[in-house]
Formats: sequence, C-alpha cells, structure tokens
Amino acid sequence: MERFWPASGTNKNKAMVEHLQSYGVFKSKKVAEVMQTVDRACFVPAGTPPYVDSPMQIGYNATISAPHMHATCLQLLEENLQPGMRALDVGSGTGYLAACFVLMVGPQGRVVGVEHIPELVTSSIQNIEKSAASSLLKQGALSVHVGDGRLGWPEFAPYDAIHVGAAAPEIPQPLIDQLKPGGRMVIPVGNMFQDLKVVDKNLDGSVTVRSETSVRYVPLTSREAQLRGY
Ligand SMILES: C[S@@+](CC[C@H](N)C(=O)[O-])C[C@H]1O[C@@H](n2cnc3c(N)ncnc32)[C@H](O)[C@@H]1O
Repeated sequence: MERFWPASGTNKNKAMVEHLQSYGVFKSKKVAEVMQTVDRACFVPAGTPPYVDSPMQIGYNATISAPHMHATCLQLLEENLQPGMRALDVGSGTGYLAACFVLMVGPQGRVVGVEHIPELVTSSIQNIEKSAASSLLKQGALSVHVGDGRLGWPEFAPYDAIHVGAAAPEIPQPLIDQLKPGGRMVIPVGNMFQDLKVVDKNLDGSVTVRSETSVRYVPLTSREAQLRGY
C-alpha cells in the first residue's frame, strides 16, 4: 500500500493520520491522537518525504516503517500501553514508536528502546528531542540503548508491551521471558514470507500466538550481517 497525501494544509501529519483512519487502517481514537501529536517529520532523514505511507531508508540497511504499520502495531498494543505501564521497543530505529509509546504510558510509565546500530541510537535520541516526547525523555520515562534486541532489555522487565520492529526467524525466548503475565508482544516472524504475530502471555504464564497479517520487514539479525547487507 503506497499513498501520497495532498500537500496542502498546515498540518500534513494530521492529514496523514486522518487518511489512514478513513481507509479503515485503524479505529482507535487514542492511536490517532498519539500519531497526530508525534510528527513523523521529526523522525525521517532530511530530504525524505515524511507523510508517504511507505517504509523509507534511514541508512545502515534499515528503514522507518510505514505509517500504516506503526498505526497497526500501536492499535494492537493499545491495552498494554496504559498510563504507568512498561514497554520495550526492539529495533527502535528512528525512535518514532518509542516516542508514541511514552506518550501513551506517561511519566509514571517506562519505555525502553533497543537498537544495535549506535549511530541510529544517537540520531533517534535527537529525533525524540525534536518531538512531543522530548520532555518525557528528559524526565527519564524513555531511554534508548545500544544492544542486541534479541536479548531484550532485562533491566526493566517484565514488560506489559513488547514491539519488535524487525523480522525474527522465530520468536526469541528472552523476549517471551521478559513479557509480563497479561502482557502482549507484536513481532514479525519469518524470512522471505513473514507474519505479524500477536503473542499474549496469559496470567498462568502460558503463551498464545496468532497471526495478524502478512508483512515485509528487514531482518532481526546481527549488526555485522545487517551492515554487510544481510
Ligand atoms: C524496520 S527498522 C526500524 C523500525 C522502527 N520501528 C522505526 O520505524 O523507526 C528495524 C530496526 O531493527 C534494527 N535491528 C535489526 N536487528 C536488530 C537486533 N538484533 N537488535 C537491535 N536492533 C536490531 C535495525 O537496525 C533497524 O533499525
């Protein structure tokens, strides 16, 4: 799906979100509010059109996901991003979703981004500083770290919500272990053919997995494999 929004109007980010809603991509008012508050223009590299519904290159063989995928993941995780909750964003890339997450969980919550390209961690922090999530970053409700996201980030576990922004051949066990009972993880799984999986940890600790939709993400892999082009 690739659509271009009209260039007129003062708030193109708002128009982009309204278009996604009108096409039925998502229904949640909360998600619309958050995506309207976090301007995508703060997160794309200079010269990249921010409001096109398509993934865009951000360097290092990585992309910022398309707005409709961000909306889909936010809606799937909405119940697990309530004020005060904890969220982990694996492969946080530009920092866009981590910024949305922290606006949802608020100052009493905690959001952690893990990204294995140090330059992307640095630029994502700069992006967040330009965005509506800046004050929550300063207050310490959000942090972004260099690390291998396949290992999660045990320091702040267990998490109510885990989002994985790159496709894993299978669901990494450390991420299942770091999910709170009652928590939800959204993760693309597969190689050539991928499904967006919704992983719910039940209160008894058992795990339920379902497929939401077919997707195409860059791989969740080692830094070396990514930098040489997988
Ligand atoms: C689709 S991109 C970015 C997604 C992010 N949600 C966004 O829209 O900006 C996926 C990211 O996962 C990162 N990545 C891939 N494998 C990783 C790993 N093992 N640990 C941490 N980050 C990883 C890539 O560097 C890339 O930035």
